[in-house]
Amino acid sequence: MYQDGYTRGTDDEACTAFFLKQLEQQLHFEGTDNVAAILMESIVGANGVLLPPERYMEGVRAICDKYGILLICDEVMAGFARTGKMFAWQNYDIKPDMITFAKGVTCGYVQLGGVIVNEKVARYFEENVLQCGLTYSGHTLACAAGAASVNYYLEHDICGHVKEMEKILAGFLEEMVQKHKCVGEYRCIGLFAALEIVKDKERRIPMQEYGEHGSVMPAIMAELKKRGFSTFGRENNVNICPPLIITREELEEYLPILDEVLTWVDETYLA
Ligand SMILES: Cc1ncc(COP(=O)(O)O)c(C=O)c1O
Repeated sequence: MYQDGYTRGTDDEACTAFFLKQLEQQLHFEGTDNVAAILMESIVGANGVLLPPERYMEGVRAICDKYGILLICDEVMAGFARTGKMFAWQNYDIKPDMITFAKGVTCGYVQLGGVIVNEKVARYFEENVLQCGLTYSGHTLACAAGAASVNYYLEHDICGHVKEMEKILAGFLEEMVQKHKCVGEYRCIGLFAALEIVKDKERRIPMQEYGEHGSVMPAIMAELKKRGFSTFGRENNVNICPPLIITREELEEYLPILDEVLTWVDETYLA
């Protein structure tokens, strides 16, 4: 059934049921009364843009409600228009109790991280002191950069632009899956995407297993960099997360480099 990392081409319903059952079982092992919150990335980023299977997030929300557990969505990577929505959780039929954010809030220009809480959590702190202190908490420069970036995203409909660019990126990645022996699948939502590099497409065997120190993936990343395509990769994933303001022309200029490198991988390692 489900293989690590692969969410497309598998049975979403079975996948969701399997993982929700595991989660609930784990909560019982811990003792549901001992769990204050579940903290999860709405869409896992650095580990390869892992899109939750259909209805998974809704299932987690329901489990949290059932046991009085708070749901905290980590939006540090996926938040602020990256997926074509202001927050990645908005792609699902849920509302978290808390949201953690950083990076995109200032477009990465100034260091700012924060937590958004719902009314219920906020009300608690009207009567109870939140004992924490950081030297630069609520720094006005960072907050000004945050407010300016968010205003820019809204005024320039960056979410709408990201959804438009998604069509080009996803179309290209779909083509890569069809064309290259070394591509197992792609995952893409907004401008948040990853390609899985495999050594056996039929059996979906990763080019590099989790925890393995192989030489092929570093060689692929080096080859991309050498040809001017700078990106992040981990295990057998190549992430493709261009700037939110990237244009159609820029995508059309740079994506062919990825295609060329994938051809090089097919010819060098899988011929
Ligand atoms: C998804 C996610 N959560 C949390 C963090 C940590 O964020 P910070 O450095 O703002 O604490 C990172 C950092 O890369 C991240 O990618």
